[in-house]
This record gives sequence, C-alpha cells and structure tokens, in this order.
Amino acid sequence: MSALVPEHISRLRDLPAYLDGLIIGQEHVIPKVVPILQNGELGLADPGRPKGTFLFLGPTGVGKTELTLLMCGYLFGDAAKHCIRLDMSEYQNQESLQLLLGQNENSRGNIGRFYDRAEGHGFLLFDEIEKAHPRVLDIFLQVLDAGRITVANGETLNLSKFYIVATSNIGAEALMDLKNSSMATIERFIEDLAAAELRPEVLARFNVRCVFQKLTYNAQKKIAGIMLKKELKLLAAKGHHLTVGNGVLELIVAQGVEPRLGARRMRQTVESNCRHAVREAMLDGRQTSGELVAENGKLVIHP
Ligand SMILES: Nc1ncnc2c1ncn2[C@@H]1O[C@H](COP(=O)(O)OP(=O)(O)O)[C@@H](O)[C@H]1O
Ligand SMILES: [Mg+2]
Repeated sequence: MSALVPEHISRLRDLPAYLDGLIIGQEHVIPKVVPILQNGELGLADPGRPKGTFLFLGPTGVGKTELTLLMCGYLFGDAAKHCIRLDMSEYQNQESLQLLLGQNENSRGNIGRFYDRAEGHGFLLFDEIEKAHPRVLDIFLQVLDAGRITVANGETLNLSKFYIVATSNIGAEALMDLKNSSMATIERFIEDLAAAELRPEVLARFNVRCVFQKLTYNAQKKIAGIMLKKELKLLAAKGHHLTVGNGVLELIVAQGVEPRLGARRMRQTVESNCRHAVREAMLDGRQTSGELVAENGKLVIHP
C-alpha cells in the first residue's frame, strides 16, 4: 500500500476482521498486531526504523508463521514475493553469516537476493530465532534497531519499509505440562523464559510480543473446516461437488493434529483424505459428487 486512496483506508479498517476470520483461537493476538500494521501503513511508525516489529512466542503449529504470511499477503499482495522468510535452523553456525550476507565484495547473500525479490518492501521473518547462531542474532538486533543491514559488497539495504517478525518455540515443551493454567500464567511463564534465553534487551525492542496459545479442540475443528472448504472448492472446479457430512471434521482433527506439531499436518490430512475418497469413487465407477462422510477411519462419498 503506497498512496492512501480511500480504498486502501477501507482495507486497513477491514484488516482485523480479515485476520480474525482466518487465524483461529488466537483472538488475543489480533488486537495487538493490527494497530502496529495500521500505524505502519498510515505513515505513523517511527522514522528510521522498521515499520513494526513483532515477537511471536508459543508452541509449534498454532499459527505464528501463518499469521505473518496472511498479514503480508493482505498488505502487499503476494506473500511469496514480499515475505523474506529466514528459517534460523539454516543459520546455526559461523558460516551462516556468509550465507546470509554474502561471502565477498561481489556478493550480497540470501538477504540481498530476497530483498530484490521483495522490491524493497514487505515482511522480514526470522523464524525460530532461538536456533540462530549468536552472530546472526546480532545482525538481527541491528535490523530491529536501525532498520538497515549492510551486506558483503558494502551495500546497505534499507529495511524501513519492512515489518520484522521473529518467532520462537521457547517453552513449548514445558507448556505441555501447564495444561490447566490460565492464559495470564502461561504468558508470563513464556515471556520469562524468552527473556532468559534471548537476552532481555532483545525482548524489550519489539513493538509487540504475543504468546500464541495451544489450539483447543474447537479451534482445531474450525481450522479443519476452513481447509476443507478450500479443498472442496478445488475439487468442485474439477467437477466433483461434495458437502461435508458426519464425522468428517472429527476424522481430520484426529489425524491432522498432534500435540507436538499442532496443526502443521492438517492441510495434508485434508487433501489426502478428500482425494482418496474421490479417487476410490472414480476407480470404482461410482458417483464423485455427494456427501462426504467418515466410515471406518476413511472418508467416503454417499451419492
Ligand atoms: N491459529 C490458526 N488458525 C488458522 N490456521 C492455523 C492456525 N494454527 C495453525 N494453522 C494451520 O497450520 C499450519 C501450520 O501453522 P504455522 O503457522 O506454520 O505454525 P507455527 O506456529 O509453528 O508457525 C498453517 O499453515 C495453518 O494452515
Ligand atoms: Mg513457524
């Protein structure tokens, strides 16, 4: 969003509803991130710094990366292009710095390449930051503070048109044992752990810190419903018109959600189960339109 025409303004107003509709069970997060994004787009962010900085904490597979991609897609159109995603598990040793910034006066590293692709504006996502090499973390701090980064060929990349997101699974294991604690207790616990592991000065520099919650069973079912809708739309475009019947969401959740992976496998579970049902019907010469229902741990089509 560059020039602020009325239609941009109304999109900014609709942003919370959009995110609420797609990020499930993290209702406390949206009101924290939205004002920062609106400030950023309305030109109200601090000059000489990134447009906004976010730290997303919490267990695996509960929407941290997904929210980042949705925010980016909504504001800049194409998240694949405008979200520079740096997976910190790939930057764990000393050589990582060269990979990131380039190795000699002729190179600009991964960051330079992605910066070009993003055309100088978008999101910079440092995913699973607790895994980064300390030198990489230092670079990250510079980015947070100054909103720029100097690459190996001496060029300084301006990141003041970027939002910076860092995610971390710190405390995810311990969280499993805090099942019945209140949200406030869990938030404090995770924030304390993050402060201990990430250095307190790092923590203090973010505009927003959010602790994402474990997904409740209802939230899992809602997410399954969203993914299912997408998949059925795709199948309908191929001529297979399906509705959702008994036990379908429950089967998807049972197969697609794991305590340690959250909803990471859900999309694949939805796809493989739906396509299995259509494939079997096609191969048996049965109708491929009708009602999907769960039978004996599989989805089948009732015409
Ligand atoms: N709260 C959520 N709302 C909607 N979809 C979600 C949510 N949490 C996870 N998902 C789904 O599960 C997948 C994995 O979640 P992701 O955001 O990558 O997890 P992480 O929190 O580890 O970054 C996403 O691509 C998304 O489809
Ligand atoms: Mg993630």
